[in-house]
Amino acid sequence: MAGKRGHKEDLLDKLNNRTGTIAVVGLGYVGLPLACALAEAGHRVIGIDTEADKVEGINAGRSHIDDVGSAQLERLIEGKRLAATQDYRAAAAADAAIIAVPTPIDEYRVPDLSFVQAASRSLSVVMPRGSLVVLESTTYPGTTDEVLIPAFRDRGYMPGVDIFIGYSPERIDPGNQTWNLQNTPKVVSGLTKSCLDVTIALYSTTVDEVVPVSNIRTAEITKLFENIFRGVNIALVNEFQVICDAFGIDVWEVIQACSTKPYGFTPFYPGPGLGGHCVPVDPFYLAWKARQLDVNTEFIELSGRINANMPNYVVSKVARLLNGSHKSLNGARVGMLGVAYKKNSSDVRESPAIKIIELLLDEGATVTFHDPHVKSLTVSGQVFRSTANLRNFLASQDCAVVVADHDSIDWTLVLQYAPMIVDSRNVLGRLNPVSTASAHRAERGID
Ligand SMILES: NC(=O)c1ccc[n+]([C@@H]2O[C@H](COP(=O)([O-])OP(=O)(O)OC[C@H]3O[C@@H](n4cnc5c(N)ncnc54)[C@H](O)[C@@H]3O)[C@@H](O)[C@H]2O)c1
Repeated sequence: MAGKRGHKEDLLDKLNNRTGTIAVVGLGYVGLPLACALAEAGHRVIGIDTEADKVEGINAGRSHIDDVGSAQLERLIEGKRLAATQDYRAAAAADAAIIAVPTPIDEYRVPDLSFVQAASRSLSVVMPRGSLVVLESTTYPGTTDEVLIPAFRDRGYMPGVDIFIGYSPERIDPGNQTWNLQNTPKVVSGLTKSCLDVTIALYSTTVDEVVPVSNIRTAEITKLFENIFRGVNIALVNEFQVICDAFGIDVWEVIQACSTKPYGFTPFYPGPGLGGHCVPVDPFYLAWKARQLDVNTEFIELSGRINANMPNYVVSKVARLLNGSHKSLNGARVGMLGVAYKKNSSDVRESPAIKIIELLLDEGATVTFHDPHVKSLTVSGQVFRSTANLRNFLASQDCAVVVADHDSIDWTLVLQYAPMIVDSRNVLGRLNPVSTASAHRAERGID
């Protein structure tokens, strides 16, 4: 006689056969694409978000995320594969829940886990016995143990027995046309072997390859190391740019030449400073936690300082170019080209453009911007709106500053009409390699 089926077997059946319901908590850059991918895979998906306008927009088939098309959203909503709500009680019907809420830092770089805490508490009172809860938010090792699990214990559930617990860091790279949710391997972990098994089953329905690790803390720190690796290498190349500039050497040409080495070199590129929700923020989650263990995180601190100084470096270049034409920052008209933190994105969170505009305003410059992806930007309480006509925009500037090298900007026009350009992304160099040659650059007023 077959043994009694337990929670695990029931859940595995529902996940493998896509007959269950998955709740995705937090419908932002991570949560909404994930909710859509799970719905496309055949699960019924409930999206939960605290913001009424997001919920309303999603249910009306309007996407607020670049990587999710409104047509796809509309199809999933109409087909009843996906529905959004502010009401956590909807998760009472869920077999699994994934938490993808923000994990910011405060002004003192202290982790703010209030969103994870709130989501964990709200879920803990509604998730049925035998279901799975996975945290995806990026955070320091120990968060699942210290925040998520206690919420379920307080409800009277024994983690690993009454409720399965997993952690799986998100690796989404908004705007990346090559690597997406499906083809990017996904690290997964579970509190117990059964927790890991059901977490693997859940993600195997939407990603090509899952990468199990032995415990939750390892999975938590994996994501931090990936972003620290990026932040440190970007800081190194940012510092190297300053060194090359002092020597009168084109750092972009150096990187291009180094990249021909088939082993032992990975190219990273300088820029106007870090932006977005991840690389400028995540390292400080680890630094904060490590301080509690009396462990130094010197690379994190140093790279943070170097990257944070890049907007000042960009502004010093603007001042130098203007100076060469007997102009000062005070009274200059400076036009920002692309204010998102990265190309082809509308995301302005932590964008270096914000700091650059602040610094320029402090010096008495008049600042405007052109960004096909961003309609408006608030800096120091002032609302700036994108100027639509690129040619008129360029013609009315003393100097243009490239922050986001969007494909949709006509860079040939920029080269033609901008009087002076600080090109922090080398977009003009890529457009026309000749323009990177120092002599030509100086002649054209490109720095
Ligand atoms: N954006 C990225 O590229 C990226 C990549 C990898 C990892 N991450 C990580 O994923 C997590 C989410 O990031 P994001 O960029 O999607 O954030 P986001 O701000 O775009 O979305 C988070 C959503 O959660 C909602 N929310 C907040 N508190 C809630 C609560 N208690 N209950 C329900 N919903 C709530 C917000 O309204 C928002 O819509 C963060 O930890 C982030 O570090 C982000």
